[in-house]
Amino acid sequence: MTDRLVTSRATDEERGLENVLRPQTLDEYVGQEKMKESLRICIEAATQRREALDHVIFYGPPGLGKTTIAHIIAKEMGASLRSTSGLVLAHAGDVAAILTNLQAHDVLFIDEIHRLPASVEEALYPAMEDFQLDLVIGQGPAARTVKLDLPPFTLVGATTRAGSLTSPLRDRFGLVYRLEFYEPSELEAIVTRSAGVLGIGIDRDGAAEIARRARGTPRIVNRLIKRIRDYAQIKADGHITKQVAEEGLAWLGIDDAGFDDMDRKILLTIIEKFNGGPVGVESLAATVQEDKGTIEDVYEPYLIQAGFLDRTGRGRQVTRSAYDHFKRPSPFLM
Ligand SMILES: Nc1ncnc2c1ncn2[C@@H]1O[C@H](COP(=O)(O)OP(=O)(O)O)[C@@H](O)[C@H]1O
Ligand SMILES: [Mg+2]
Repeated sequence: MTDRLVTSRATDEERGLENVLRPQTLDEYVGQEKMKESLRICIEAATQRREALDHVIFYGPPGLGKTTIAHIIAKEMGASLRSTSGLVLAHAGDVAAILTNLQAHDVLFIDEIHRLPASVEEALYPAMEDFQLDLVIGQGPAARTVKLDLPPFTLVGATTRAGSLTSPLRDRFGLVYRLEFYEPSELEAIVTRSAGVLGIGIDRDGAAEIARRARGTPRIVNRLIKRIRDYAQIKADGHITKQVAEEGLAWLGIDDAGFDDMDRKILLTIIEKFNGGPVGVESLAATVQEDKGTIEDVYEPYLIQAGFLDRTGRGRQVTRSAYDHFKRPSPFLM
């Protein structure tokens, strides 16, 4: 993957910073009001009944706060969190080893849960449903299964692609939440808080400008403030005013809509090479030389939500706003 400034996936270097900036409680978690309200009630009810919280799945584009909310759930339940990923759980035995080591009401967080191999998924079904594990002992004709009781636990899954989940797995989650892109005012609150934590001086207008161009994504707003701090330190007196923010964003190659090179490349390719579309995502991916899945999971969701791109049955199509943004004559009627 290219080192893209507004990419919403975390880089390694960034993980340390993310942990510092990660909100710790539901109250600190900005936005997603409906989800928070629902979670608050379910957490309180489960706590009162002294039960584990129902299994929860979060889906939505990278950088919107799925990992963060998983950690918050464990904290609010007064439990521990075990974190793993669909990419590393290769065998049923891997997940069995984790499950048998959980304490009552603990949270098992599985990131990229749509990537779980079928054998692991199948091991999870009885674990999720009845807090039981079917362990196969021995091999061949002598093999037999033993049932093992597990402590009541909460499985929290996260995925960028709800569509790739198998239905038996999806059906076993009692709580399903879709994370939404954040409003500029919410991102402004996040960037202001992050500036405070990192000791960066910023004006309200500066924060608003960065928030407006962060593609609706907390991870991006936090990345931008870090880069613009560098700019402010060298080119200004270290303080981020609106003007410093604008200059810094221009220096980073981020335009007025918050698009970077790849966003522009995707939209301009559709306009120039495919007459505005519709174009299949495979052809688009080949032309812009980016992975198809990355286009679908990382780039496209924001372009669609911001109204620059449409996903139609016949492929991707740019909207009139895209023509207007690039000051290209639009084939759309007035
Ligand atoms: N609702 C939120 N309020 C404040 N900060 C947030 C929120 N959601 C995400 N963040 C910030 O964005 C970063 C990325 O969030 P993360 O939970 O890792 O995203 P995801 O797991 O969906 O890719 C976190 O480190 C955190 O600092
Ligand atoms: Mg995550």
